[in-house]
Amino acid sequence: MRIVVADDADRVAQEAADIVERFVSASESPALGLATGGTMEGLFAELVRRHRRRGLSFGAVDAYLLDEYVGLDRCDPNAYRSVVRRLFACRVDLEIGSLHGPDAQAPSLGAECARYERKVRAASIGLQVLGIGSNGHIAFNEPGTPFDSVTRVVELSRRTRGDNARFFPVENPVPARAITQGIATILAASELLLLACGAGKASAVARAVEGPITETLPASAVQLHSNVTVLLDPPAARGLSTSSPGHTNGSLDGSCRNRDGA
Ligand code: GLP
Repeated sequence: MRIVVADDADRVAQEAADIVERFVSASESPALGLATGGTMEGLFAELVRRHRRRGLSFGAVDAYLLDEYVGLDRCDPNAYRSVVRRLFACRVDLEIGSLHGPDAQAPSLGAECARYERKVRAASIGLQVLGIGSNGHIAFNEPGTPFDSVTRVVELSRRTRGDNARFFPVENPVPARAITQGIATILAASELLLLACGAGKASAVARAVEGPITETLPASAVQLHSNVTVLLDPPAARGLSTSSPGHTNGSLDGSCRNRDGA
């Protein structure tokens, strides 16, 4: 696992964009897994900037969302598909039909979850971008999620709903349920890139990368994957043990520390 502590959240976005750019440029038909949440906004903005300034193309990309709220209209600005369209897909040259996500308004959510699981597995995600919740969730896999879980409908925890309430108007609170890829679905990607910024993530990050691998901390499942980069700003990294082995990685800015963990 590569753990990189960048100077600040802007540098996190730039380093993450470097990894996404390398991935989309190296493959003829890249299958890119996208996450949502405030942490992703900097990455999306940086990718849009690169598209506009120097023509970084997403024309060959198929993008797959991790999760979607149940109970929101497709056009609701807080539906994850709308968010990713608004912040990223509509601002670059991603083909309109190349943004994939679970349809949370399908008549049978069970059938829809099975369909999306098959679609994601068939796509073979090359690079999966991840955020992390303050309680250690990835996608919407809350504490206690089995590591062999696949795409399904879940109940959101009170903490997750509280954390995400900042995106929602008071009259339309955070939905109670969502469709999410499972831990096993996520781990099937060839490469994982986990981003975290801010002190509110420090405890979850430390437990995810240095703590025991346990279903009570879903993000600790990334330790089971052989190709993971964890990209942090200093506040998000402050719970990490200073005794971790570390060195500066030449491919990154010299101000970044790279700790080569397990
Ligand atoms: C939501 C998403 C997660 C994401 C998390 C972090 O809960 N379902 O995939 O990791 O938000 O959000 P933020 O970056 O806003 O802290």
